Amino acid sequence: MQWSQGYVADLDYPVGFYQEQGPDYLNIACVLNEVEPVRTDRPYTYLELGCGMGNTLAILAAGNPMGTFYGIDFMPSHIGTARRIAGAAHLDNLHYLEHSFGDLVDGRAPVLPQCDFITLHGVYTWISRENQQHIITLLKRHLKPGGIVYISYNALPGWNAEKPLMRLLREYADGERGDSASRLRSASRFMKQFDLENGGGFSETPTLKKFLGALNEGNAAYLAHEYLHQYSEPLYHIDVARDLAAAKLDFIGSSDLCEMLPGLYLNDEKQGVLGKIADSGLRETAKDFFLNRKFRRDVFVRGARKMSPIRQGEWLQTLSVALLKPHQHVKLSQLPVGLMEVCIDEAGFGPIMEKLAGGPCTLTHLLGPDAMKNQPFPAAFGVILMLTGSSQTSLYLPRTVNPDAAHRLNAVLAEEGHHNDHYRTLASPLTGSGVVVNPVDLLVVDVVRQRPEELVSTVIAQAQASLARRGRRLRKDGVILESDEENQHEIALHARTAMEDKLPVWRQLGML
Ligand SMILES: C[S@@+](CC[C@H](N)C(=O)[O-])C[C@H]1O[C@@H](n2cnc3c(N)ncnc32)[C@H](O)[C@@H]1O
Repeated sequence: MQWSQGYVADLDYPVGFYQEQGPDYLNIACVLNEVEPVRTDRPYTYLELGCGMGNTLAILAAGNPMGTFYGIDFMPSHIGTARRIAGAAHLDNLHYLEHSFGDLVDGRAPVLPQCDFITLHGVYTWISRENQQHIITLLKRHLKPGGIVYISYNALPGWNAEKPLMRLLREYADGERGDSASRLRSASRFMKQFDLENGGGFSETPTLKKFLGALNEGNAAYLAHEYLHQYSEPLYHIDVARDLAAAKLDFIGSSDLCEMLPGLYLNDEKQGVLGKIADSGLRETAKDFFLNRKFRRDVFVRGARKMSPIRQGEWLQTLSVALLKPHQHVKLSQLPVGLMEVCIDEAGFGPIMEKLAGGPCTLTHLLGPDAMKNQPFPAAFGVILMLTGSSQTSLYLPRTVNPDAAHRLNAVLAEEGHHNDHYRTLASPLTGSGVVVNPVDLLVVDVVRQRPEELVSTVIAQAQASLARRGRRLRKDGVILESDEENQHEIALHARTAMEDKLPVWRQLGML
């Protein structure tokens, strides 16, 4: 059998960063669900199964020197890239293994330690049943009691409408010659004929039109990894929970922190229905029916230890919060957070935003000394959860900040910005997580980290020259700017914003 076992392995998966995999993020999800978290103020071990290009792990390892991080992936091109970046940044607490899950189970790979965290993002519903069982074996074998698992997957019934089209797409692509990118392109052309306006008439459902439209517009590598694997199959939450129960794992909640605010996405009647279901597997699955949700980010714990409300309050009082962008850039309406788009009441939030603009601070400083002691928590805490869910603020646990590794990684990633567009996140040693940046931001960071006092005009000129050298065109309002003048103008605007507005925030976050 081929080593890739029906998996699309001739095309690299796009580089990404997923904040929900962060140790603090997972610990906070536990605390919000009244479950004891993992202590991260002492050495701990973290494993990612199917780490792809390794970017999430690199950011986490650089921002969390207390942890030792392991990433496993069977694609040599993924591990090769991951090692190149981690090696250049001298991330000594990060180790990548080029092995399959089967290798690990059967002892054909180095022995892994017992882990406090095991995460897998975008893996479980894209692999064969045999490989899913390997994962369960690895969770059984390598997760410590009290350890946390993060698992994301394509959920049912959310994909029900698209499933027949997904099948047709894959069958057509399987019959085509060439690499995965070209098979995807010809299968997408084939599928276009099933678009309603062209007389396909498969269904009137807008979801299906959206699915067909996205095939022609999306990133080929992403789409091939989403749809062309031989064993891709969405699952009901209840089936995933039953699988994980075999590894003694208890479902504790979602890593989408806004799910702690059910009033945002379920009316009273639906909350009432769910409230009467005792079994969490059934309750969550029923919730997915109400929401027709397509993607889940679940958190499980091996032997969840419930905490008292008093202890929960004590934990929450230790949290800090930091803005990840200039306060004037914070978006309060149409915020995409997990399950929904939310809007924050600007008037009510003004005073809190003023305090946040002053720099990172503890929740007690922000909301008052007793605010987090007892439930119900103040409405403003819900706002912080929404801002965190939309990557505009970060919530983090107390830590001793050692910025060296994050600075080294950020230097390597900023240098990459002269050659490609792959890297869009930098590490913050303050929050232990990532901060999203754009291609011009990266170039600005590259100059300023080397020459902190550089003039804005010089930084602009250097960013313009770097992007011009590789013929990189920017977009404005979704449209590619074709002329050199338009590009230069746009780069100048971005670079000035980075220098004048973003840089002070990046400095507060300890990024450079
Ligand atoms: C969709 S990618 C997600 C990568 C990464 N977690 C991320 O989100 O960026 C899934 C990853 O799982 C890896 N993978 C799939 N099957 C595997 C197996 N049997 N053993 C090891 N890695 C596997 C793939 O190579 C791929 O990098």
